[in-house]
Amino acid sequence: MTTHMDSMMAAAASLLTMARRVVVFTGAGVSAESGIGTFRDALTGHWSRFDPQQLASQEGFAADPGLVWRWYIERLTSVENALPNRGHAAIAVLETIFPEFTLVTQNVDDLHERAGNRNVLHLHGHIGRFHCNGCGAPYTRCAGDREAPMPPQCPFCTDYVRPSVVWFGEMLPEQEMFQAWSAAERCDVLLVVGTSGVVYPAAQLPTLARRRGARVIEVNVEESALSDIAEITLLGPSGVILPRLVDAMQHHQGR
Ligand code: OAD
Repeated sequence: MTTHMDSMMAAAASLLTMARRVVVFTGAGVSAESGIGTFRDALTGHWSRFDPQQLASQEGFAADPGLVWRWYIERLTSVENALPNRGHAAIAVLETIFPEFTLVTQNVDDLHERAGNRNVLHLHGHIGRFHCNGCGAPYTRCAGDREAPMPPQCPFCTDYVRPSVVWFGEMLPEQEMFQAWSAAERCDVLLVVGTSGVVYPAAQLPTLARRRGARVIEVNVEESALSDIAEITLLGPSGVILPRLVDAMQHHQGR
């Protein structure tokens, strides 16, 4: 018996097998099965437990640099201890299939790279990189920084060092944005995975792609702010749904 899910999966696989230019756009949900916390999930999401203004803004950093430093070091440690999951692995396989493939992530972890993706556009920065909050000079972490109660100071200007992630009110990295927007404008299919789709400008990408004629497929454990834009929403964990989707594509191609 064919279930509704089977037919949605087959429809998504069929759209993907016909595509040449594909964009995959990911959010925290893709790393959830690796044990990395999301932001808005009701019980465990960071922003359900902590105030984002305190931990992810210039004002919060100015008010309590030690608190912000320690929070990011704790998150960095959990990223370093995590492993890519089957969802990341399936996205790495997708990169090998399409003539033009662009992976755009809002995630600051490096699990896509560790799963094998070569070109990853990080719209919200990298949790494992650091720079000076004053002069912008890149900073390489030293022994002892991890345990320190306060951020290290820049060797050039003595201002505090911060993680190279995008905070609320800050601009997205220009080059990554340009490449992501160009890819979304040109793609045949945009696959959006594990994002609530409420943080702009990143959340514009599926709408932009759709307006330019792309087909939009979503994978999420529940409906999101982007589900109306998506032609197909595959409900379930990305670590289960994405490997099934790759299998379904192979099955579709073999017919
Ligand atoms: P959110 O926490 O807002 O959303 C996570 C999404 O993942 C939700 O829609 C969940 O339903 C879904 N989800 C959870 N587990 C899943 C799983 N196993 N498989 C598939 N989906 C799952 O995270 P983002 O949308 O990434 O910004 O948040 C966007 C931005 O808000 C983040 O990049 C961060 C945050 O403030 C910055 O750090 C600048």
